[in-house]
Amino acid sequence: MKNHTIAFAVMAAIAAGCATAPTEDELAAKAHDVLKRSFEPRGQAGLDRLDQDSLQRMCSKYSGGNALPADVAERLQKEQMALIKYPASGKLIGDWKRGEKIAQSGRGGQFSDDPKKPSGANCYACHQLTKQEISYGTIGPSLYNFAKLRGYGPDIQKYAWNKVYNSHAYVACSSMPRFGYKGILTEEQMQDLVALLMDPASPVNH
Ligand code: HEC
Repeated sequence: MKNHTIAFAVMAAIAAGCATAPTEDELAAKAHDVLKRSFEPRGQAGLDRLDQDSLQRMCSKYSGGNALPADVAERLQKEQMALIKYPASGKLIGDWKRGEKIAQSGRGGQFSDDPKKPSGANCYACHQLTKQEISYGTIGPSLYNFAKLRGYGPDIQKYAWNKVYNSHAYVACSSMPRFGYKGILTEEQMQDLVALLMDPASPVNH
């Protein structure tokens, strides 16, 4: 009889547990499952892009009208800064002509892209870089005259490298992709892009 009562109490507790509303985390996990089941990996589009890292989870939590607190932003930016790597050669600047082609290319990361081919950077989708370009996006600020306005010195070179490698080191929840940290671009491509921003001969600075 006693065992019966305990079993009943346990079942009642389980039933009560099931009846409570799912937590926000449980709902997010469910939504993630549905998303993962809705896609299949193809070409350069792997399903790993559906997995958020700790930074992205925080940025999702504080999106919309829910502003990111300043102390959290500062901590996240410090963590992102620590992820930035530099070329072993110490050389941050490559060839601006190649950089211009990479900045204009929107190839990469899509299911139709060959995984063996390098990605483009698509900088023009968000930034003006030169006077000549007739079509560019405006999500990011204009980078026209980037080094002419800021200077051509090593500190600005490093800032340009850092921003391309991991933009979130400066703006925790930036919409600019983390080209180096996420392995979207190679070291050489990033050197070429820094050259596009920094070389006095680059059309960015004319
Ligand atoms: C999806 C949009 C997007 C793309 C693509 C993008 N950026 Fe950005 N970028 C931004 C935004 C937005 C900012 C403003 C600050 C922030 O949120 O990080 C920014 C800021 C910058 C800055 C700092 C500007 C300053 O005045 O200090 C640099 C440099 C930069 N981007 C370079 C690049 C380069 C080079 C590329 C291509 C490799 C690129 N961006 C691709 C959105 C983008």
